[in-house]
This record gives sequence, structure tokens and C-alpha cells, in this order.
Amino acid sequence: MIFTVAIDGPAAAGKGTISRAVAGHFGFGHLDTGLLYRAVGAKVLAGAEARAAARSLVPDDLQGDTLRTQAVADAASQVAVDPEVRAALTSFQRRFARAEGGAVLDGRDICTVICPDAEVKLYVTASPEVRAERRYQELVARGTDVSRDEVLDDVRARDARDMARASAPLVAAPDAIVIDTSEMDVGQAVQAAIDEVARVLGPRGG
Ligand code: CDP
Repeated sequence: MIFTVAIDGPAAAGKGTISRAVAGHFGFGHLDTGLLYRAVGAKVLAGAEARAAARSLVPDDLQGDTLRTQAVADAASQVAVDPEVRAALTSFQRRFARAEGGAVLDGRDICTVICPDAEVKLYVTASPEVRAERRYQELVARGTDVSRDEVLDDVRARDARDMARASAPLVAAPDAIVIDTSEMDVGQAVQAAIDEVARVLGPRGG
């Protein structure tokens, strides 16, 4: 079966958790496309040129805890404004989306640019304050020394950059189902996404 679940949304809205849970529930593959941009950002921080780094990414580049730092997230959103960087990462994402067995992809432009024909499109969001608090808890749990204000500033700066860029800006696709997780716990958010996928799958896999 070829079946794509496309999930977009701003930083720390819960896309990753929801995507992993949906993929696990239905037995689909999962690609966190933010990792591709983070891997390019990490290479740029290490001295590489962004376009060359994007063209030469290998699966091993997507491993490692350092990709989860704030500095790498920030570098990722800077390289992500370059249409040539984005173009270099497109065909890998599209192949993943149409691989046999079903796929969940999460990112910023999956519903709008990478998989406009996805069978299910979701836009997962939450208020900036709620998202910053979740990311703060995540970073503290990982032992990072940050303040709540720094994390909120970072979330706001990345939102602004991701939404304002000319190439594939972050926006809810007109036909995406919006899941606002501001007032939901993880279980409720995951269930809302699973319900939507099951509705579309219907008798095929319901
Ligand atoms: O986990 P979080 O939502 O904070 O970030 P991420 O999904 O790992 O993405 C990091 C950065 O990569 C974002 O701020 C975007 O600028 C960029 N990105 C993108 O442009 N397009 C995607 N499909 C995924 C990420």
C-alpha cells in the first residue's frame, strides 16, 4: 500500500511525538524532515557550505544527539531559507513518502510542497507560550542550561523566519486538518491524529 500522512506545524508543537505514534500505530515508516535541515545546519556550524552539505547528506548524518541542540535548530532554520538547499532535499523526501508500506513525514512544507497529494494532511500547532514551555522542559530534561525566556525568544524567532521566508514558508495547507494541542495532553493529540488517519484509511486499514 502507498499511503502518505503529511504533518506540518511550527517548532515544538508536538509533530514529532504525534508522527512517531501514528507511524507506530499503523506500521508506517516515519521521516522527521527537520532532521535533514538540522544535519545541514550542523555541517554549516562545522564549517561546510550549506548547498554542498545538502547535496552530500548521507543517512549517518541524521544520527546523534547534537542535532537536537538550540544552536543546530537555529542554524537549520537559517539554511532552510535557501531554495537550493530545499531542492537538494526534495527527491529523498518524496521517495520516502511514496515507499511501499505507508509513510508519515513531519516538517514545515510537507502538505504544501513535498506531498501536496498526501492522503492525510495535518497541521499541528499550539500557542508560542505552550510550545516554548514544552521545549524548555525537553531541554532541561536533557541537561541543557537555558532559561524559559531564551527558549520563548528562540521559538518566536524561528516561527518568524519559517513563516516569512519566500521559499516554502510555513503555512497551514487549505485542505489540512488543524490540530491545536494548546489544551491537549499527548494522548489526546495522538488520538486526534490517529482518528483522522483511520477515517481516511477506512476499511483498507481501519
Ligand atoms: O523540532 P522543531 O519543530 O523545533 O524543529 P525541526 O522540525 O527539527 O526543524 C528545524 C528547522 O528546520 C525549522 O525551524 C525549519 O526552519 C526547518 N525545516 C524546514 O524548513 N522544512 C521542513 N520540512 C522541516 C524543517
